[in-house]
Amino acid sequence: MCPDDLDEILELERQGYATPWSEQVFRDCFRADYRFRGIRVAGKLAGYSIAACIVDEIHLLNLCVGGRHRKSGLGRRLLRHLVTDAAKEGMTRLLLEVRRSNHAAISLYRSEGLAVIGERPGYYPDGRGREDALVMSLELRLSDDV
Ligand SMILES: CC(C)(COP(=O)(O)OP(=O)(O)OC[C@H]1O[C@@H](n2cnc3c(N)ncnc32)[C@H](O)[C@@H]1OP(=O)(O)O)[C@@H](O)C(=O)NCCC(=O)NCCS
Repeated sequence: MCPDDLDEILELERQGYATPWSEQVFRDCFRADYRFRGIRVAGKLAGYSIAACIVDEIHLLNLCVGGRHRKSGLGRRLLRHLVTDAAKEGMTRLLLEVRRSNHAAISLYRSEGLAVIGERPGYYPDGRGREDALVMSLELRLSDDV
């Protein structure tokens, strides 16, 4: 992804989250130690992933598929692409946080081999309260080349 894609990214982000990231947060993601990938359908952005490389770990910060493209395998493709590239780059572990209530994402992550390794109480804003995050992890190997 590049800054020219921001309008499309922000449109998908607003479909994906009750508390979407701001444009400035996305602008800060165009940096060498981040991996910011998108997937297009008929030329239009349909989803994206953003991950930060921290030494030999890659942290998935955002994975989002546009509302009308969901349940057609794009989220899985974005995640697999991230895993494959990270393993090739020599990363040894994928880490992420996910809302405890986000059953769609948790189901995707579990089906790709991620396991819950912890939780962060009150990590996310949730209306006027807070919601816990589950921390999930996957060990990466060079054979992760699906
Ligand atoms: C989570 C998200 C990225 C999944 O993307 P997607 O393209 O719809 O997912 P896929 O079509 O690749 O589905 C892969 C698996 O995810 C799970 N899944 C996806 N949507 C689901 C739903 N509504 N309910 C339950 N499981 C679901 C299933 O296990 C599915 O496998 P299956 O098709 O064999 O049943 C998408 O729902 C999204 O963008 N949500 C809003 C943003 C968000 O919550 N991101 C995650 C932040 S941690």
